[in-house]
Amino acid sequence: MNNEVVVLFGAGAIGEAIVRRVSAGRKLLLADYSEDKLAEMKQKLSEAGFSVETIKADLSSRTSIKEVVAKAQSLGDIMGLVNAAGVSPSQASAEQVLKVDLYGTSVLLEEFGKVMAAGGSGIVISSQSGHRLPGLSVEDNKSLAMTPTEELLDLPILQEDVITDSLAAYQYAKRTNVLRVAAESVNWQKRGARINAISPGIIMTPLALDELNGPRGDGYRKMFDSMVTKRPGTPDEIASLAELLMDRRSAFITGSDFLADGGITAQYWYGDVDEVRN
Ligand SMILES: NC(=O)c1ccc[n+]([C@@H]2O[C@H](COP(=O)([O-])OP(=O)(O)OC[C@H]3O[C@@H](n4cnc5c(N)ncnc54)[C@H](O)[C@@H]3O)[C@@H](O)[C@H]2O)c1
Repeated sequence: MNNEVVVLFGAGAIGEAIVRRVSAGRKLLLADYSEDKLAEMKQKLSEAGFSVETIKADLSSRTSIKEVVAKAQSLGDIMGLVNAAGVSPSQASAEQVLKVDLYGTSVLLEEFGKVMAAGGSGIVISSQSGHRLPGLSVEDNKSLAMTPTEELLDLPILQEDVITDSLAAYQYAKRTNVLRVAAESVNWQKRGARINAISPGIIMTPLALDELNGPRGDGYRKMFDSMVTKRPGTPDEIASLAELLMDRRSAFITGSDFLADGGITAQYWYGDVDEVRN
């Protein structure tokens, strides 16, 4: 065992697939607000040969994120950070989505940007949803990217006339993730560390399965039929990309966002299958 630490925020399906690729022989610190999920993943990964520690933590709280940072530092050199924690529009109110996915991710980028080891790298899981927003003005892009984190949620563009529901909140949160990854990568560069975003399309997880078995299932199936894959993605396909981005082979890549969605965003803007836009 070496002295290298990988931190995963969000003990869910996508996060698990990624850390399985990048944590062998390192210490893996899992952070999630669900103690059940932490215990379940710790058992699964320990039985698979990983060295796992856990900490109960809330992505929407700076205090909590700082506790995760302190625990990670006590374990060794922080070489990897994966943020796969988040709430979806069907799980939470607009306010909660902004607090967790937008504000929380911004704090995480800021706090880990102060402690990453040289040569370290991070991944933020954003979403194709952020790519469904039209282009924003240069001023709005800059304010979402650069406003001090504690003032972010007071920006006019994040108030009720724009954020009309939890889907709008999710889209703005995910667009902001990508902008803040680019802006924070400047600070990470000073430490010799890299940070990138991945924007997945629909990935098969228990949540996606619920959607497929629900009232919108037929629409989803038509959408899948139109895709290059004829199916949704798997957590492993996102992990393949994350593994490459966190590896030294990607030493020249930072501050970027990678859309991995089976072609659905291109179809949303330029295609002829209505279900893709519904
Ligand atoms: N599954 C998809 O189709 C899909 C597509 C695009 C983007 N994403 C994004 O990928 C990320 C991971 O999603 P997933 O599909 O693996 O979902 P998941 O529900 O399996 O994992 C999310 C995890 O985040 C944790 N979490 C939620 N809020 C938290 C908080 N405040 N503090 C700490 N932990 C918290 C949950 O307990 C859960 O373990 C999310 O950001 C999601 O928006 C998912």
